[in-house]
Amino acid sequence: MGLEARTNVLPYYEIAHPEISQIRVFPTPGEAAQAAAEEIIGLVRVDPHAAITYATGDTVIPLYENLARAAKEGRVDFSETSGFHLDEYYPCGPDINEYPHGFVAYLRQRVFDPLGIKNANEMDGLASDPETEAKRYDSLLSAKPIDLAILGIGPWSTETQTGCHIAFNESGTPFDERVHVQALDPVTLTRDRQERGQNSPEKALTQGIANILEARRVILLAYGEKKGQSLREALIGEIGSQRPASALRLQGHKVTLFIDEAAASQFGKL
Ligand code: GLP
Repeated sequence: MGLEARTNVLPYYEIAHPEISQIRVFPTPGEAAQAAAEEIIGLVRVDPHAAITYATGDTVIPLYENLARAAKEGRVDFSETSGFHLDEYYPCGPDINEYPHGFVAYLRQRVFDPLGIKNANEMDGLASDPETEAKRYDSLLSAKPIDLAILGIGPWSTETQTGCHIAFNESGTPFDERVHVQALDPVTLTRDRQERGQNSPEKALTQGIANILEARRVILLAYGEKKGQSLREALIGEIGSQRPASALRLQGHKVTLFIDEAAASQFGKL
């Protein structure tokens, strides 16, 4: 049996949801990442000029490793695709020594360079006027419809009832917001500083929910019980700006979740 045949039979089951068209549950994060990679590889084979927005964070690292391996093996060619940045701390530059938490360095190292993406569109986290930078980046996104947005999800706090961000759209961000400067929620700041030991800023540049919902397809990855609790808020909580990821239910026909059983165990009845 060839590699392709094997990767097409990764075991998963689907959870039905009234709005989200596909929730695929895999036994392990590794299998979910591999399956998501195959989905993206299939999309790029059909459309070698696809415009793709890439999330950062820990969750998507195994996905990007799978994509890099496939590109190296010549199974897929990303060189004519366009790559887009989902979000970036502000202020923050590309020098990994000075900004070890920075997303540009992450994307160059894990996505743009290994996949050979020539047209990589980065946000400038050192722009002197971030509002102008947000407008510039938004005009890039408006000029080139995004074929696929790859997302993770942020943590949810039962204490503050805030969280489940997508990109850096924090609780309270209107769904019609486009690329903008975002003050980070205490839930994110706690995660970054206390859990991750980062000395990262309190602000960010981020694609807005409106930009994300304009993508033709959205793939969201989430693993583990904590992310499952966050997703639960997004999937069955009230749709509204308090739960930014709940916005995906407004365009649920184009959304696919790749999650593991630990995350799914937190859903209860959907
Ligand atoms: C980060 C980024 C998002 C990411 C999310 C989850 O801070 N703003 O783009 O999807 O939070 O990150 P992780 O996968 O590391 O938990």
